[in-house]
Amino acid sequence: MAKWRKAFPVDLADESFISRREFTRFLALVSAGFTAGIGYLWGRKKPLEGAPDPHGVTETAVALGLASELAPGQSKLFTFRDQDDRCILLRTAEGDLKAYRQTCTHLGCAVRFKGGQLECPCHYGYFECGHGFPVQGPPTRPLSGVALEVKADGTLWAVGDLPKPGEAKEA
Ligand code: FES
Repeated sequence: MAKWRKAFPVDLADESFISRREFTRFLALVSAGFTAGIGYLWGRKKPLEGAPDPHGVTETAVALGLASELAPGQSKLFTFRDQDDRCILLRTAEGDLKAYRQTCTHLGCAVRFKGGQLECPCHYGYFECGHGFPVQGPPTRPLSGVALEVKADGTLWAVGDLPKPGEAKEA
């Protein structure tokens, strides 16, 4: 049976039993559904990942404690925009502070900092810490980076999204 036939299973002989009014009601219902869906997307506060904020709201900085608290090779988890926006802050062996979203760019598992790399335990994807580029395993896109700022008093803040690196570095 053709695919369209499954979606609209009315035989030619029975078509006269569907009135114009019923068909119009069906179309109105579908249109209302689409309108409600678009209205929801329009009104939602949180922009889709990577999209510019349609409301032009500047992001709220999140305090991450003292920058000196984290020794090289250590990491800690935090949330940024909301409780579902899970991120990982780490200090590389070279002493640089970096922060990334924990969401693996393959299928969305949470990455962790292990052995100087960001590891995704689901399918053993690995990302380097400098820019979040994938270096091994199935992921092909870099992790989403979080911009950090150290204030004059030594406190560390997550202040926004880093621009996405252009292309994945060849492994
Ligand atoms: S979900 Fe991370 S490697 Fe598959």
